[in-house]
Amino acid sequence: MAISASLADSSGTSTPADPSSPIALSAVSKSFVNGPERVRALDEVTLSVGPGEFLALMGPSGCGKSTLLSIIGGLVDADEGSVQVLGRDMGALSRAERTRVRLMDVGMVFQHDNLLEDLTCLENVSLPLHLRPQEAHASPDGDALAALERVGIADLADRFPRQMSGGQRQRAGIARAVAGGRRVLLADEPTGALDSRNTVEVFALLRDLAGSGVAVVVVSHDNEIRSWADRVVDMLDGRVSAGQ
Ligand SMILES: Nc1ncnc2c1ncn2[C@@H]1O[C@H](COP(=O)(O)OP(=O)(O)O)[C@@H](O)[C@H]1O
Ligand SMILES: [Mg+2]
Repeated sequence: MAISASLADSSGTSTPADPSSPIALSAVSKSFVNGPERVRALDEVTLSVGPGEFLALMGPSGCGKSTLLSIIGGLVDADEGSVQVLGRDMGALSRAERTRVRLMDVGMVFQHDNLLEDLTCLENVSLPLHLRPQEAHASPDGDALAALERVGIADLADRFPRQMSGGQRQRAGIARAVAGGRRVLLADEPTGALDSRNTVEVFALLRDLAGSGVAVVVVSHDNEIRSWADRVVDMLDGRVSAGQ
């Protein structure tokens, strides 16, 4: 497992991000204008995540965690700094190219699973794979089933989301995010709606996925994550304030 950490320290200096890492951010800043106020959501964040690394991102509400994940996933543009994901310079890509990066390589999971209620579990997982270009994807259903096996719910393939528990639904959401060989998984409070038993099971699953080579970044308020992650990065006021 290659773990490369380069973190801005509290004095504001930083070492360069490792450009060969699946995720390499260098001096990334982002501000939002909220009425008369200008909020600096990210303030020169430098951070690398290696292949197979499970990184936990913690910090109080409003400190910039979701903004950071959205920038890595190409949903939001950085104002300044460099964002490299699997060797691609996200800031230089068109919107369509960034969508393709997500379709092929970067999966995202949120607190709510966002499963489509009219599709079966398997159909939910295979749907994004069907959107891939033909030449890039030969067997969406086979890959979707393999992803359900990876998260331990292949036996639920034909169920509809309403027939599944909260924990099972979130597993399906995670399967959808990693199906088809995606190498980066970004999870924003994935256990926020789960009880403590399911929370531990989801952290264990994310740990396993990282063990298979996926770079996993998880935002969580739950201290339990500290015992599962390879590294915990604490954020405060848009800055990466500590890491280990
Ligand atoms: N789309 C947006 N428009 C305006 N302000 C935003 C937007 N997204 C985030 N912010 C602001 O940026 C700051 C960081 O937000 P966020 O990244 O969601 O924090 P966290 O996920 O740590 O709670 C907050 O002050 C928030 O209000
Ligand atoms: Mg958030």
